[in-house]
Amino acid sequence: MGNKTILERLSLDGRTSLVTGGGSGIGRSFCHALGEAGAKVAVVDIDLSAAETVRDELLTRGMQAVAIRTDVTSESDVTAMVERVVDKWGSLTIAMNNAGIGIWRDSIDMTMEEWQNVININLSAVYLCAREEAKVMANSGYGKIVNTASMSGHIVNTPQNQAAYNTSKAGVLHLTKSLAAEWAAKGIRVNSISPGYTKTLLVEKLLETPEGQSMLPKWLEKIPMNRMATPEDLQGAAIYLSSEASDYTTGSDIIIDGGYCTW
Ligand SMILES: NC(=O)c1ccc[n+]([C@@H]2O[C@H](COP(=O)([O-])OP(=O)(O)OC[C@H]3O[C@@H](n4cnc5c(N)ncnc54)[C@H](O)[C@@H]3O)[C@@H](O)[C@H]2O)c1
Repeated sequence: MGNKTILERLSLDGRTSLVTGGGSGIGRSFCHALGEAGAKVAVVDIDLSAAETVRDELLTRGMQAVAIRTDVTSESDVTAMVERVVDKWGSLTIAMNNAGIGIWRDSIDMTMEEWQNVININLSAVYLCAREEAKVMANSGYGKIVNTASMSGHIVNTPQNQAAYNTSKAGVLHLTKSLAAEWAAKGIRVNSISPGYTKTLLVEKLLETPEGQSMLPKWLEKIPMNRMATPEDLQGAAIYLSSEASDYTTGSDIIIDGGYCTW
């Protein structure tokens, strides 16, 4: 047994972190979780006022936080995001690449612009962020990258049609494994979290459409636990994968879906 207890190894005291898409939903709950566990948190979002609101929530709770406006698809924005964290806190240990979008489209009607937009934000930007974060982490020989994938990267959830989304998230899973293998020698662990249906703005917006309203009962009957996740349901995995407790875990994915993928 080592010198630290398991609760000490789960602590993020003094760690520095960033969360993309931190201004809303799952990202916001990751920001609160990291802050509660002791980390300094950069709340990153394309929507600066959303990021500032979450930053203020954290500051009010006595945590250290900063808001950064970043479009994760922009190389110059992503470089500046990492620089800003390092300038402010001197390091970057934990990076949660979580920003993402969802669309429902019949594949036969989808435009290439729609396809590219989903792939750019959900997959290519995860690579871009990880690349820039890894440069800093490699210098210190230690880092934790946690990507938000989805149960939709494992299975095709129905009845909505979302081939671009499913494909982007399957890509995130394999990107995670590829980077984990490549960067293990640099001390960088790369893992992912795959949420099932989670009550956030992204899902609420989809459910407001006429198509969406008929969807909820169909979703619930396919979830063994018969409810959607709350963003808080995902926090334990976020802290585990960000902490020393997971130092031998890399290239892994944690599915948190109320059992959806078991059937
Ligand atoms: N909600 C679910 O049911 C669910 C399920 C599985 C996976 N996910 C994934 O979880 C992640 C977060 O989703 P959510 O439900 O919290 O959504 P959300 O819409 O509530 O939050 C997403 C955040 O990302 C930000 N964002 C979007 N594009 C961006 C860009 N180009 N640059 C920077 N920020 C950008 C948005 O402004 C928003 O604040 C996404 O990757 C999503 O695919 C969600």
